[in-house]
Amino acid sequence: MEPILSVEHLSVTFTRYGRGLNRVELNPIRELSLAVEPGRVTAVVGESGSGKSLLAHAVLHLLPRNARVGGSIHYDGAPLTRERAVALRGREIALIPQGVTWLDPMMKVGDQLRRGRGGSAVRDRCRAALERYGLGPGAEELYPFQLSGGMARRVLIACAVVDRPRLIVADEPTPGLDVRAAGRVLGHFRELAEEGAGVLFITHNLGLARTVAHKVVVFREGQTVDEVPARCFQTGEGLTHPYSHALWRAMPENDFEV
Ligand SMILES: Nc1ncnc2c1ncn2[C@@H]1O[C@H](COP(=O)(O)OP(=O)(O)OP(=O)(O)O)[C@@H](O)[C@H]1O
Ligand SMILES: [Mg+2]
Repeated sequence: MEPILSVEHLSVTFTRYGRGLNRVELNPIRELSLAVEPGRVTAVVGESGSGKSLLAHAVLHLLPRNARVGGSIHYDGAPLTRERAVALRGREIALIPQGVTWLDPMMKVGDQLRRGRGGSAVRDRCRAALERYGLGPGAEELYPFQLSGGMARRVLIACAVVDRPRLIVADEPTPGLDVRAAGRVLGHFRELAEEGAGVLFITHNLGLARTVAHKVVVFREGQTVDEVPARCFQTGEGLTHPYSHALWRAMPENDFEV
């Protein structure tokens, strides 16, 4: 199956100027490759600082200006240039950002969902998206500061899926949600995939990743170390890299052996 998103040999370098003319190069992403197929949930797991959010931001062209990006990113068979990313993001390509601070503090929830669009069809779609995450129509009238952390997160998710994107990049979408709400969100990702979208599900939680995803990609220190069917993390079989094996051994039912 042709991937909807394919990332090859991605690298991200930041240049910082220290004292005087001292230049410091930081290279948090060195060699990331992965593919997201339509109709599939691809999970990316990796510890904090392994480069997961940077990958999401590189795909959407949201990295800060001082970032240098190498390698290639293709979407729907063609290079994902900045122009294309700007045209597609928020429409065909949706980001569920890691931080809830991405909500506009000065704008009511309903307006953030509608993004300036009027008409009853848009209103109904937005209302349905909120309802899907257990938020009633009253939520539309609230400002972000009036939302609890979990509500804000559900609003972000509703914003991302309201336009039926073809690619969803979800960066740690479940912290702050109780098990039921998290289960609902992850179930919804599966549903969106079943309807044909490609889902890139970023998490540090291997337990969630292997439950919801078809495929798991393992990152370590800015490098892809493994890309395996999720079932490999059920049984431990087929894990080629020692680091993946160590992650699997460290799961609760395997006695946390490290
Ligand atoms: N703007 C930046 N300038 C310099 N370094 C950065 C910048 N943004 C991120 N980094 C570094 O890149 C590395 C990867 O960061 P990233 O946010 O992708 O991690 P992550 O895997 O998403 O972690 P977490 O699970 O905690 O969200 C970190 O070491 C971080 O300090
Ligand atoms: Mg992150």
